[in-house]
Amino acid sequence: MIELNNITKYYGNFPAVTDISFKIDKGEIVGLLGPNGAGKSTTMKMITGYMPPTSGELSIDNYDIVQQSIEARKKIGYLPETVPLYTDMTVYSYIEFMGKLRGINSKTIKNKVNNVVEICKLGDYRNSLISKLSKGYRQRVGIAQAIIHEPEVLILDEPTIGIDPNQVVETRQLIKNLSGEHTLVLSSHILPEVSTICERVLIINEGEIAASDTIENLSSLVSGTSKIEIDIIGSPQSVQTEIEKIDGVKAIDLWVKKSTNEFTTFSIESDISKDIRSEISKTIINNGWELLRLEAMGMSLEDIFLKITTTE
Ligand SMILES: Nc1ncnc2c1ncn2[C@@H]1O[C@H](COP(=O)(O)OP(=O)(O)OP(=O)(O)O)[C@@H](O)[C@H]1O
Ligand SMILES: [Mg+2]
Repeated sequence: MIELNNITKYYGNFPAVTDISFKIDKGEIVGLLGPNGAGKSTTMKMITGYMPPTSGELSIDNYDIVQQSIEARKKIGYLPETVPLYTDMTVYSYIEFMGKLRGINSKTIKNKVNNVVEICKLGDYRNSLISKLSKGYRQRVGIAQAIIHEPEVLILDEPTIGIDPNQVVETRQLIKNLSGEHTLVLSSHILPEVSTICERVLIINEGEIAASDTIENLSSLVSGTSKIEIDIIGSPQSVQTEIEKIDGVKAIDLWVKKSTNEFTTFSIESDISKDIRSEISKTIINNGWELLRLEAMGMSLEDIFLKITTTE
């Protein structure tokens, strides 16, 4: 549904996003995670056609965002980082106005506005001026304008930022409910938020994709398994066979992470109750291989995030 190929964005001489590529399938719920200044908003602005990439290709449902911009943008609902609200309009009239801009005809607009007012739980405020709404409710109005035209793709840039904990829970629930019908991308630097809503995480750091994995895979690192990485000079095949024999190695999770001419990096997952590091080093020495690195990678999601997004 969303496809980015070698997308780069320069602001003047500054590369905010460098050569990123990823695909998001129809119906997927993906979290774009990264520290401040990582390039999350920039990426979203390009996906939504708000701003063209400097180079690379980007398509929404196979419509090129630059060449077939109108078709592509029809499929998108966008909640920008700063919601462009007209504060002297009422909630109802603003959503209606945005719906008309999206080309909804006057026969159906009433029903549609009522519907999103319901979905976003804005009923009590439908005739309130936006200027009188709290931050959390403004954010809901922002979400309402993003979904009024029933887009297939929903891009939400930090949807819960600045909202108090009570409203955050409700807003997250609202987003979760929306996710059933949409391909959803949301950005955040709050890990629990991403893990409660999203199925997959793209970690972006300094304008590059640092990791892309399911929450499940990331979580399995903290629950019941610990991970060890080794860099080894030796035949990858025999290393694999020998290490699999060690008690505690979850054989299935032993995999080659990287292989170069110089060495092979293995990622070994093992039972968390067993420390298998000494067994591993014994096996290596007994077989006459060279060990360049042995590192325990037992990490929480926060650790993973920090590790990926900070340079040593
Ligand atoms: N219009 C602009 N002109 C120049 N530089 C910009 C512009 N917009 C963003 N940048 C820079 O590009 C980089 C990426 O910014 P971006 O807003 O995409 O980050 P982000 O991941 O959304 O961060 P945050 O979590 O703070 O929202 C930052 O270094 C930022 O200073
Ligand atoms: Mg941002």
